[in-house]
Amino acid sequence: MISIHALKKIFRTGKDSVRAVDGVDLRVEQKEFFVLLGLSGSGKTTLLRCVAGLEKPEAGEIHLADHCVNAPERGWFVSPEDRAIGMVFQSYAVWPHMTVFENVAFPLARGKRKLPPARVKERVKRALDLVQLGALADRPVPFLSGGQQQRVALARALAVEPQVLLMDEPLSNLDARLREEVRDEIRNLTKTLGITTLYVTHDQVEAMALADRIAVMSQGKILQIGRPRDLYHFPQSRSVGEFLGAMNQFEGAVHAGAVTTTFGAIRCAIPEGASEITLAIRPEDVYVSRTAGGEINEFRAQIAAQIFLGDITAYDLTIKGSKLRAKTTRAEPGLEAGSDVYVRLPVDKIKVFPR
Ligand SMILES: Nc1ncnc2c1ncn2[C@@H]1O[C@H](COP(=O)(O)OP(=O)(O)O)[C@@H](O)[C@H]1O
Ligand SMILES: [Mg+2]
Repeated sequence: MISIHALKKIFRTGKDSVRAVDGVDLRVEQKEFFVLLGLSGSGKTTLLRCVAGLEKPEAGEIHLADHCVNAPERGWFVSPEDRAIGMVFQSYAVWPHMTVFENVAFPLARGKRKLPPARVKERVKRALDLVQLGALADRPVPFLSGGQQQRVALARALAVEPQVLLMDEPLSNLDARLREEVRDEIRNLTKTLGITTLYVTHDQVEAMALADRIAVMSQGKILQIGRPRDLYHFPQSRSVGEFLGAMNQFEGAVHAGAVTTTFGAIRCAIPEGASEITLAIRPEDVYVSRTAGGEINEFRAQIAAQIFLGDITAYDLTIKGSKLRAKTTRAEPGLEAGSDVYVRLPVDKIKVFPR
């Protein structure tokens, strides 16, 4: 379990100061896979480094399991090596002059918690087997691929049998195909071992694929915490919604129980007292057909472009001069550029953000 309360970290460089972590509260449950998601500069790495003890916050508290590891206002600070954490970084941070075995053994064979050689051997073997590198133990690290080097880094973090695993964009140096493979391995491994994980990324697909829960961060603050599908379908703000995936957005005004937009009145769940509203709908929720269904929120539209993407087809549509993007896995025959079509915006798929 990781518990963070009212955490603040300010960097001062000359006259300027940056509130890198600005009052963060969060709790990662035992065995949970928790992802911090945010743009570059939003404070993810700083927050992770505070948990690791590599950064000293100005205020707040951090608990790992039942131990307070940092409470600056009470002058309490537990050093990184006494925090029972494993850490994996973006750069593999493996030592090139060592073999795979030596890299993983390094943190076990030195320092205060140094283990006897036989135990080191056993632990390294187990960790390498976990990441499927058992056969490569004696190989010098430069003779490994990027994906294998990152697995060495993961094995090294796991070999200390940490209570929590901290990972900072560990996939970003891998190419696209390998990234998915290592991503799924990380998820399986942490779940099999039942290890509590705090993982940082700026990639929303990666976050959704890995996380039990996600915290979306912006400017040192947490905007929303939730399960991937809840954040995706029910974002509390436009910024969270936009962050998790593409959305069509329209501005409108509330009038007679509907929202008046440039292409017509749209029915949706209108919050009490709202007058100016932004409506949003994800492309895959927009329904496109050659025939009218006679249902509410149905509008005439034209297909400006059809983009075939293999598993899905995307349509760029125009409705009375407004642009709309739709995506579908099962396209009706005869939907092509230039076609006149009907577009439906299902009421339960429309997200409503008061302005
Ligand atoms: N050592 C540092 N000194 C000064 N500013 C820093 C330092 N580390 C990070 N920052 C600033 O803190 C903010 C958050 O950075 P960071 O935690 O690295 O964000 P992220 O990991 O989300 O990209 C940024 O504005 C960054 O420039
Ligand atoms: Mg970072």
